[in-house]
Amino acid sequence: MSQDSSPLSEVPEIIAIDGPAGAGKTTTAREIARRLDFMHLDTGAMYRALALKVLRDGCPLDDAERIGQIAQDARVALLLGESGQRVILDGEDVTDLIRSPEVTQAVTPVCEVGQVRERMVELQRLAGSSGGVVVEGRDIGTVVFPDARIKIFLIADLSERARRRMLELQAAGNTATLDEVMTQIAERDRRDQQRDLAPLRQAADAILIDTTSLSFDQQVEEIIRLYTAR
Ligand code: DC
Repeated sequence: MSQDSSPLSEVPEIIAIDGPAGAGKTTTAREIARRLDFMHLDTGAMYRALALKVLRDGCPLDDAERIGQIAQDARVALLLGESGQRVILDGEDVTDLIRSPEVTQAVTPVCEVGQVRERMVELQRLAGSSGGVVVEGRDIGTVVFPDARIKIFLIADLSERARRRMLELQAAGNTATLDEVMTQIAERDRRDQQRDLAPLRQAADAILIDTTSLSFDQQVEEIIRLYTAR
């Protein structure tokens, strides 16, 4: 079913938000979901949970075959708890653990493995099948939900994204410098854009929003306005 040929009523009520690291996808998607009473699906958190499982297994990060097997056995779910979205890996709440620098490093090679992407896309489609979902990631508009009601590609200047990420890290007690964060984000962008499978790119029918000089409220309201105008 393509968006062009299907009646609007058959298009799943999905808001797809893609973009590079630090563009504000997660906070924006969470707030849009809250205001519209939608579910929020943070697909990056799912890849992070799997990377944590790979690290715990002691599996080398270049062993694609074993990483693929680990993905087949993994049960990754996102639940809405009283303190926001919780990430559950094989029955354990790993919400806080998946934001560690070790997991952030490991997730890049892990999410490049074909079997990992197949398994995650399957779980993501299942989670979004009933609609009423804001889904964010890198390949949502291009691969996971190409028929989404609306697709947003969220970007911001590298220096602004690094500044926002550094503030988040500092709030969590991390002492990373702006230069370090900028280098890490640039490297993650490069690998996300250049990988063979489901690379980060703007879908042809996605709307580009540059948040560099937008306030948080402005970007949330703009996406809701675009969605309700469809
Ligand atoms: O959004 P994030 O930083 O939490 O994502 C973690 C990693 O997962 C990121 O390096 C890219 C990858 N990812 C992906 O490949 N596809 C998605 N749909 C979401 C995230």
